[in-house]
Amino acid sequence: MNSIRVDIQRLQREIDELALITEAEPPVVTRVLFSEADLRGREFVKKLCREAGLALRADAIGNIFARWDGADGKLSPVATGSHIDAIPNAGRYDGVVGVLGAIEAIRALKKSGCRPQRAIELIVFTAEEPTRFGIGCIGSRLLSGVLSPEKAATFRDRDGKGLDEWRQGAGYTGSLDYIRLPKDCYAAFVELHIEQGPILERDNTAIGIVEKIAAPSTLRMQLTGVGGHAGAVLMPERHDAGLAGAEIALAVERAVTGTGSPDTVGTTGVFRIEPGAVNSVPCRALLEIDVRDTKEATRDAALAQIETAAAEICQRRLVVLQMDRLNVDPPAICDLALVETVISICRQLGVSHKKMISRAYHDTLFMAQVCPSTMIFIPCRAGVSHRPDEFSSPEQIEPGVRVLAQTLAQAAR
Ligand code: HGY
Ligand code: MN
Ligand code: MN
Repeated sequence: MNSIRVDIQRLQREIDELALITEAEPPVVTRVLFSEADLRGREFVKKLCREAGLALRADAIGNIFARWDGADGKLSPVATGSHIDAIPNAGRYDGVVGVLGAIEAIRALKKSGCRPQRAIELIVFTAEEPTRFGIGCIGSRLLSGVLSPEKAATFRDRDGKGLDEWRQGAGYTGSLDYIRLPKDCYAAFVELHIEQGPILERDNTAIGIVEKIAAPSTLRMQLTGVGGHAGAVLMPERHDAGLAGAEIALAVERAVTGTGSPDTVGTTGVFRIEPGAVNSVPCRALLEIDVRDTKEATRDAALAQIETAAAEICQRRLVVLQMDRLNVDPPAICDLALVETVISICRQLGVSHKKMISRAYHDTLFMAQVCPSTMIFIPCRAGVSHRPDEFSSPEQIEPGVRVLAQTLAQAAR
């Protein structure tokens, strides 16, 4: 077990090199789905996969599969993976650790002389982040069948450009109909990821083993009021879409803080008003609202309260409300046997560890619907993520890659 040597210096260089492939000014990382930076990032990862001797393919939404064939082709493979797309103003570790770290895990296994019975396959998922179309995990939703090809084809970005146009422009021209994976296509799926929370660092623990992933949801609200001259339209005559949106954002905070559960969170992360002139009463507002809880029923109750409040606010202000639920997903329960496998590997390696819940969602949320899945977390400084100062040290990354390597080797026996 101890013959696996992770080349953490090389991995750190690759993380830093990928971080320079960004739409923003380094060290800020931004790589939005199918942007020029996302496409260059994909090429960078594929080059590393080829150099590692992995066989590459991609599906019609751009999920990339890099495979190390096993000795027995009749056995279903073991999979790992994560994402390299990044929201605006992000850091360099979210998703990337699970992709580049998996390549390093496979290189280390090869160097150790490991000969897996089952193939080991790295998946680089398309669009884990919701930035382009308002909904995340498009690649893993299609793989798991949670999202239908028909529904995916309706996705439009803010400028009205559709998913098909974006993916075909990126070179992914096949039919979305053949993406869905058959049940038990993989014997196991394990994703390495930074915790995006403070617990592991606070508890001075090297590894988190995820038992459950919180239930995410996204609402989109388009408000249409009446614009006008900021000086000429008196307050009683106004139907200000911006103020209706502001009240709704506060209603989100009230709903999630009022559930009695500390695990309910709500974020009005997108809030745009038009026309965006200081001397013009906002005639339109766009809100995208993220609501989560580890318990589905609690999350659902908060969602319903927010929708009721939004309708009341808009009715009172005579603002027209169009409300859409972009996604309302159940939580994921990770595979107990796989969790125990990772725990026993941590024990054998003498690596501190603890079971935990993921408050962030990940592609594992959907892979758990097609095969036994879990996640391996590593600490990140002060729990910070989705910010340029997101940080995990080489000393924190290395044990994560080593535990992932052992887990893949054991699952692929
Ligand atoms: O938002 C999330 O939980 C993930 O980082 N996309
Ligand atoms: Mn993220
Ligand atoms: Mn992520």
